[in-house]
Amino acid sequence: MIYQGNAISVASDTNNGGEPIATLTFDLKDESVNKLSSAVVAELGEAVEAIAATQGLSGLVITSAKDAFIVGADITEFHGLFEKGEDYLVEMNQQVHAIFNAIEDLPFPTVTAINGLALGGGFEVTLTTDFRVMADTAKIGLPETKLGILPGWGGCVRLPRLIGADNAIEWIAGGTENRADAALKVGAVDAVVPGERLEAAALDILARANAGELDYRARRDEKTSPLKLDAIEQMMVFETAKGYVAGKAGPHYPAPIEAIKVIQKGAGEGRERCQAIEAKAFAKLALTDVCYNLVGLFINDQVVKKKGSQYAKQAQPVNQTAVLGAGIMGGGIAYQSASKGTPILMKDIKDDAIELGLKEARKLFTKQVERGKLTTETMAEKLTNIRPTLSYGDFGHVDLVVEAVVENPKVKDGVLTEVEGQVGEDTILASNTSTISITRLAENLKRPENFCGMHFFNPVHRMPLVEVIRGEKTSDAAVAATVSYARAMGKTPIVVNDCPGFLVNRVLFPYFGGFSLLVEQGADFRRVDKVMEKFGWPMGPAYLLDVVGMDTAVHANAVMAEGFPDRMAREEKTAIQAMFEADRLGQKNAKGFYAYEEDKKGKPKKVDDDAALSLVKGLAKGSQDFSDEEIIARMMVPLCLETVRCLEDNIVATPAEADMALIYGIGFPPFRGGALRYIDAMGLDAFVAQAERLAEELGPLYAPTDKLRAMAKAGERFYSDAGKA
Ligand SMILES: NC(=O)c1ccc[n+]([C@@H]2O[C@H](COP(=O)([O-])OP(=O)(O)OC[C@H]3O[C@@H](n4cnc5c(N)ncnc54)[C@H](O)[C@@H]3O)[C@@H](O)[C@H]2O)c1
Repeated sequence: MIYQGNAISVASDTNNGGEPIATLTFDLKDESVNKLSSAVVAELGEAVEAIAATQGLSGLVITSAKDAFIVGADITEFHGLFEKGEDYLVEMNQQVHAIFNAIEDLPFPTVTAINGLALGGGFEVTLTTDFRVMADTAKIGLPETKLGILPGWGGCVRLPRLIGADNAIEWIAGGTENRADAALKVGAVDAVVPGERLEAAALDILARANAGELDYRARRDEKTSPLKLDAIEQMMVFETAKGYVAGKAGPHYPAPIEAIKVIQKGAGEGRERCQAIEAKAFAKLALTDVCYNLVGLFINDQVVKKKGSQYAKQAQPVNQTAVLGAGIMGGGIAYQSASKGTPILMKDIKDDAIELGLKEARKLFTKQVERGKLTTETMAEKLTNIRPTLSYGDFGHVDLVVEAVVENPKVKDGVLTEVEGQVGEDTILASNTSTISITRLAENLKRPENFCGMHFFNPVHRMPLVEVIRGEKTSDAAVAATVSYARAMGKTPIVVNDCPGFLVNRVLFPYFGGFSLLVEQGADFRRVDKVMEKFGWPMGPAYLLDVVGMDTAVHANAVMAEGFPDRMAREEKTAIQAMFEADRLGQKNAKGFYAYEEDKKGKPKKVDDDAALSLVKGLAKGSQDFSDEEIIARMMVPLCLETVRCLEDNIVATPAEADMALIYGIGFPPFRGGALRYIDAMGLDAFVAQAERLAEELGPLYAPTDKLRAMAKAGERFYSDAGKA
């Protein structure tokens, strides 16, 4: 044994008589995956030193004893490390470079056997060796830019030299995970083999390199020398890429562009100089708010996933499901379930509704085929997972039923009591209602413990969030089964307690309330949309209302006003109400705050509409001119305060779940981390001061809670993680 640590071991073997070969194996104790924490990186340094000091070796194989190769750096350490500042980070990365360079400079050929996922720092380790062989099921990539940083352990240096600047930019700026065939095609790996042949393939490469058949020194030269691009080629590659990537990433995500600049700056330089450029740019990005928030988001996502898997572990099996209602939502739910492999009965009372639901599902599957993601055979197979029906005939064998009929309490009551009589004692019933209390819907049921909410978002196949709503009598078993089904459908479930609007709509409608007040005081809704889009929302509030539909918004608003009359009820007619009364329902009838025309692809395109503008103008009681900052404050404060209330009222259990629900459910700007992180970033005292100022003028929608005031006074925050003062 050459080295034995907690995560890394190095052994040498003569492989039946040849010269000894060292094998460095990553196998982090007590963890399911390999991660490059600071401790593991330190071990890697020791291991490489031990290898370099061993006489007589003729090759090195790097591999992993776990399913994944190395999933990357340990992101949970990031906030703590990044807090230490730029100089520290530059030095930290230079130390890693020294270790990685020592692998690259070993006096014999080296190869990595990539048996599974190799991401970020994990993939950067593989780039230090002369050759890479990859299992056909493995994936590799550099996702760092998705966290607001760039590959800082040589990825920006070695990858462009290996696969060309254009391909490297695509991998790094896109943060993609790349399959074996794609990796082989661009030359990121030298061979792809079935997993069981990986070791033999790696040893074969070393033997060929030692026999002079493969020139490993030429490989090294290529990786450590300037890029082979002349000035004109450089300009073509880098300037074109910058334009394209800037357009795609948008102004709020600087990391992809920075990564291109690093590759460009280092293009004419050797290894050490390039690494210094990379280290500096990494440290700069690591200190930005965007990076802080994106790292926070990753950590929150882990919290949410962990909770989901804990529920799912206790869940009874969900092998066959049913959906009641084949409308917009029911059809989407059936498609999603079938697509991810859970057979589902789709019941409606109307033949043509079922036809419509099936047509929609077929359309979505066909798109997958067109994109090359499905073959026609698998599409046919998946389609058979949806069984349309007009009767309850097969409901006796169903594990879980999602009710998605019209949003009418009487109809829902009727349907739920009816279906309860048709299913087994343990079958879980879940309602997709947006506005009706789950506790109230449970009142007429014989087994209210088997009932909960399962709130999907429209369009179901695209929106990642599912709110799982616990009513007063809902059992843990019902929640667990529903969470488990949502996960099987590829969704992110977040469990919340019952209240008007549940979590997401309860938070969204005060935001619309802020919007109504703004336009009432004379703000141009088109400007409000622009400002909020610039702030980072995928669409502004007026546009969003058009997408949601004015009828839905008016109905939900009434439910919210009844539930929270002090802050959400309004005497005055709002712009939303006025649109509804003028039959301007939004996209569904091609007129709302905007008018809608079909673009060339047949998609709705919004255009200004004088009728809408004068309708809103007629309601305005003032003609105040608002700054961008003021618009943002008036929109964001009610949303943030309602999120705080949901946490205080125990509607949602943790800040992480609240923030992730807003990001996944309504597209809260991810780089801002969520409502509670947004308050933390502003500082609770500054946020409370802003809210109090607005409350004085605009009333209770803007009033901070007593607890929030107390938290601000005590200097507390929602997240205790380090990294920001
Ligand atoms: N559309 C959205 O954006 C959205 C988002 C989240 C939740 N929801 C909720 O989802 C539910 C369905 O909404 P939708 O937009 O799909 O409505 P929809 O009108 O498109 O579809 C409702 C379907 O239910 C069918 N139906 C009526 N009574 C039935 C019965 N007794 N048995 C079986 N089917 C019956 C109707 O024929 C129709 O096909 C509602 O509770 C709604 O609040 C909707």
